[in-house]
Amino acid sequence: MKYYEQHAIITGGSSGIGKAVAKLLARQGANLSLIARDRQKLQTAQQEIAAVTINSQQTICTIVADVANYQEITAAIQQAIAQLGTPKLLITSAGIAHPGYFTDIPLEVFERTMAVNYFGSLYSIRAALPAMIENQQGNIVLISSGAGLIGIYGYTAYCPSKFALRGLAESLRAELKPRNIRVTIVYPPDTDTPQLAAENKIKPPETQKITATANTWSPQAVAEQILRGIEQRQIAIAPGAELTILNRFHSLLTPVLNWYFDRLVNKINS
Ligand SMILES: NC(=O)c1ccc[n+]([C@@H]2O[C@H](COP(=O)([O-])OP(=O)(O)OC[C@H]3O[C@@H](n4cnc5c(N)ncnc54)[C@H](OP(=O)(O)O)[C@@H]3O)[C@@H](O)[C@H]2O)c1
Repeated sequence: MKYYEQHAIITGGSSGIGKAVAKLLARQGANLSLIARDRQKLQTAQQEIAAVTINSQQTICTIVADVANYQEITAAIQQAIAQLGTPKLLITSAGIAHPGYFTDIPLEVFERTMAVNYFGSLYSIRAALPAMIENQQGNIVLISSGAGLIGIYGYTAYCPSKFALRGLAESLRAELKPRNIRVTIVYPPDTDTPQLAAENKIKPPETQKITATANTWSPQAVAEQILRGIEQRQIAIAPGAELTILNRFHSLLTPVLNWYFDRLVNKINS
């Protein structure tokens, strides 16, 4: 399926994975609404994405909103729909990550992470869904993480918010299927974005050691996998062999991975 003249709304579309998906969609002729908080970053992304559009009719809109604020994100999505019509695609990529030791992370960070990553996605879906239901088609794509499949040392704030998205996606998928609206969840690997760079500055050494075992992907490569997965109507998109195996077998693999990661942690502490 190509997105010529279709409308896609992307929260977190001003940076990283969201922006990379936006660029690929722009190359397929889509009209886009990008939602994030920082106006300047949105404008820069808009220019970058406008430069790869394939026809002069394409529109790239930007809307400033905090996804964790129900009124703001609802108004933003209503504005996007008023400007460019019911979206064929809603991608909830806005997210934050704050690694650290459980007892060092302020309570507000746990609350904020859940507010942005989980409720920010849920609010966005609630705002777009009535129009999608009316249109009797659409695809909702939630960006979780490999950290939504397995608990990782140092990610006590982040992992639960990404696990929660999995629960939402799986249950919502079943409800929306009869209405011809697809729900897709993505478990990206480590991806070279400003978020990962910020995380790397504050990760505990144990977390550094564990995450160093995995390859870092480019945002474009992850975005390509996301669009391919959507086209193939995959319910869960897990880019790369590691995440594919983890997605399919995480319950079986968790004891082995825990054993291996505990050994890495012990090396740091011995
Ligand atoms: N990078 C990775 O290794 C990786 C791996 C797995 C999953 N993920 C997930 O992929 C998604 C995108 O991450 P990324 O790495 O591409 O990060 P990024 O480059 O930092 O982009 C995050 C985007 O979300 C927006 N955002 C953050 N908080 C927001 C809020 N409260 N309201 C509205 N927009 C907000 C940011 O813009 P503003 O700051 O201007 O609002 C930005 O556009 C996240 O959900 C992340 O958890 C990332």
